[in-house]
Amino acid sequence: MHNEIIEYVKKEIANNGRKSQPFRDRFQHTMRVYAWAQRLQALEGGDLKTVQIAALFHDAGWDDVIPHQEVSATLARDYLTANGHTDVDIEKVVQAVANHNQRTSKAPLPIECYIVMDADFLDEIGAITVLWDSMSTALESDPSYLKAYERLCHYFEENKSRECYLRTESGKRLYRERLAFLEHHIRNLEFELGLADNVPLPPMKEANSDTTVTIS
Ligand SMILES: [Fe+2]
Ligand SMILES: [Fe+2]
Repeated sequence: MHNEIIEYVKKEIANNGRKSQPFRDRFQHTMRVYAWAQRLQALEGGDLKTVQIAALFHDAGWDDVIPHQEVSATLARDYLTANGHTDVDIEKVVQAVANHNQRTSKAPLPIECYIVMDADFLDEIGAITVLWDSMSTALESDPSYLKAYERLCHYFEENKSRECYLRTESGKRLYRERLAFLEHHIRNLEFELGLADNVPLPPMKEANSDTTVTIS
């Protein structure tokens, strides 16, 4: 764990507060991306420390004019330099933070950059998508299970077309697994809401047996 960096990032995010939804917390997102980045590094290789620190800084900064990845990259460079992190390749961290949104970039980048990109992309795809869509629907007028279901279907279709944005093989596989989980959930929801007479798919355990990823 990088407790001092985590505390610093937490304070920065609290100070430059930006929330797209009341239930979405950017620091919590950061910690989930940190976890995804470690899972991906265990599968894809690359320098663990670079990946961990870049994930922590990736959304730390915000400005109404300058793109947040640039502000975050500057914060990372300044913090790591000022605090004597000589054991870290600071410019590699800065590069991964600065490029975390360049998902369609053709220019080759180090594996650490692709891992941070994919970690960021994998967050809120899967079980959290169900929470997001449900909570978002509940905040609208006349919320209902049907509206939550419709929102789930809409974003499921959108997310299906976005697999091309994943840059690592493990990221693509994990993304497909999250989508399979979502599809399974939607089919069951259709059955339970009485929208379809089909029998729900078998439990996920039987449908997908190779989904375990552990952090060393
Ligand atoms: Fe970002
Ligand atoms: Fe992010």
